[in-house]
Amino acid sequence: MRRIKLDQIQEGTMLAKTIMTLEGKILLSSGVTLNAEHIKRLQTNGITEIYIEDEISKDIHVPDFIRDEITTEAKLLVKKMMTNTSIRTSIDGRKVMEIVDKILESILANGDIIANLSDIRSVDDYTFSHSVNVCIYSLVIGIGLEYSSDRLRELGVGSLLHDIGKVRIPQSILKKPGKLTPDEFDEIKRHAYYGYEILKNTNGLNMTAAYIALEHHERIDGSGYPYQLKKNSIHKAAKIVAVSDVYDALTSNRVYRKKMAPHEVIDYITSRALHYFDPDIVDTFIRYVAYYPVGAAVILNNGEKGLVSKYNKHVPTCPVVRVVTGENGKMLSKHKEIDLSENPKYWIVKVWDI
Ligand SMILES: [Fe+2]
Repeated sequence: MRRIKLDQIQEGTMLAKTIMTLEGKILLSSGVTLNAEHIKRLQTNGITEIYIEDEISKDIHVPDFIRDEITTEAKLLVKKMMTNTSIRTSIDGRKVMEIVDKILESILANGDIIANLSDIRSVDDYTFSHSVNVCIYSLVIGIGLEYSSDRLRELGVGSLLHDIGKVRIPQSILKKPGKLTPDEFDEIKRHAYYGYEILKNTNGLNMTAAYIALEHHERIDGSGYPYQLKKNSIHKAAKIVAVSDVYDALTSNRVYRKKMAPHEVIDYITSRALHYFDPDIVDTFIRYVAYYPVGAAVILNNGEKGLVSKYNKHVPTCPVVRVVTGENGKMLSKHKEIDLSENPKYWIVKVWDI
């Protein structure tokens, strides 16, 4: 299977991964042959990319890093907490911990922990998917840093709720389509403090969650907010969430910006490791996140195009590539697989957007 933009889809293509709504209902099941009505339904639901199975992507398996029903349950829980308009936000600490435990179990069930989140999300449910993804990436980093199960759980809870303070920001500012005024931007920034206030007063939650909400926008050179904290004065868990937060935000489509490819975001984060982020955390993160996700389309240095068909755990920048078009741009009658880690003559020059 491979990932493809919805506007490139032709009728008659087979859907390879089930698409769920935020409410946990099936929008379209895998195996369906897409017709015009299906494609329209996906568009109306704000879906911009899907996984398909076709001749060139046959037998390429994109693993589910986290089981769909768990991410759906987590998104719904976050949605419930973040759309609670009552002044006192009610957070059920026990429920949050239960879902964090499920996410953790699901991550650990992967033999090799290489985070490749193959979720298909609609642009409308960004905030909720984002919270869940930040939780997943933060836990992956925590596992990489050999955190104890108690510390992982604290990290998981805080990362899932890192933006909970946004519940106190008016929707008119959060959803404003145009540019924010400096005052509005200041108000958005206050979500960090609001989150701290909410979480420190929530029964059953450790203070780590409150510090994550408060400090996840701090940067180690003091250029962050709200307190311009530096290096070791920032809570370690908040420094982990800072990396996951930026990674997930930049790899997602937003109304005002197109998403970047995972390898571009990894390069972005690595190049700022000394200024913004904790270098040890960045090091751990890049060991466990997919540089070129399986199913991504790539162009090699000789002009051939193909699909990433397998990871190389030890050399993330050199996956196995299934070449499908030759140097002349013509489809090959028979695909060939090149393991880039064993063929130094070839390397990826670009992710081919299809
Ligand atoms: Fe935030």
